[in-house]
Amino acid sequence: MDATRQPVDREATARRLLLGSVKRSYDPDVDIDWDAPLVEGKFFTPPSMVTLYGTRLWDELSHEQRVEISRQEMINTVSVGIWFENILNQMLLRMTYEQNPTRAHVHYAWTELGDECRHMTMFGRLIEKAGGRPYRQGFVLHNLGRVLPFVLTGPSVWVAALVGEEIFDALQRITMNDDDLQPLVRQVMRIHVTEESRHIRFAREDLTRRLARSRWPERALARLVAGIGTLLLKTVLTRPEVFRRAGLDSATARRARREARKNPHRARIYATGFEKLRAFLHEQGVIAGPSRLLWRASGLHPDGKAA
Ligand SMILES: [Fe+2]
Ligand SMILES: [Fe+2]
Repeated sequence: MDATRQPVDREATARRLLLGSVKRSYDPDVDIDWDAPLVEGKFFTPPSMVTLYGTRLWDELSHEQRVEISRQEMINTVSVGIWFENILNQMLLRMTYEQNPTRAHVHYAWTELGDECRHMTMFGRLIEKAGGRPYRQGFVLHNLGRVLPFVLTGPSVWVAALVGEEIFDALQRITMNDDDLQPLVRQVMRIHVTEESRHIRFAREDLTRRLARSRWPERALARLVAGIGTLLLKTVLTRPEVFRRAGLDSATARRARREARKNPHRARIYATGFEKLRAFLHEQGVIAGPSRLLWRASGLHPDGKAA
């Protein structure tokens, strides 16, 4: 582990984040104008972030088809968000069960839990407002989600949290700054990015602290979770069902999936999105051993060079 990053006082961080939560938290029920109509013809995800952008198939699609794919990919992304935040909340709640309820870091964990409950509600309302249906995980991932809260402990909880939170943070920062996007999607992303930046801070600092005193098996599990989590996240964000629901016939939907998976533009977006997390985990010694192979399999170079 890099000796330059020292664990900081958990209570001091938690108190600062609790104060930040009081000053800047949102209630999506009142802070988002759910009655405003969607804007005809506007994208739901910036075109440059649609998984097919830059492929031959993209050039063949009409504007309406591109918008529809962006709508389905946005719905898939927030569906994955709900799945992930639900699992994270179970892990956080289980963690606090063992801890002292008078401590600020426990209060902050409960505050984060509350944030995530509002986010899941917000994402659910966004799916409904966009006129879509939520995407469900397949049998394996759905059941993995049932088991993970009981299996992951110590540093792996924060590694799993960061893999989800940091990639969404990076992608949502691009989304919220795009003027040509559906205003409703931008509002949702702005709220989420603001509140998630506190979660990321808390997770990073607690991970640093836990790794500093963890033993080999815990570190090995954290490495495995980082590698598998990254691979998994990339897979669930490119789902063939998205193309079918967007109205492409089954042969074109299969072609869309193939072109999206091989799309170098998409690979660059993900590599950029994962870079801050990769650098942090690398510094913490979490990208090492077999987990390096998993990062490579995700198309992300474990040392941060071009993949
Ligand atoms: Fe969230
Ligand atoms: Fe979060």
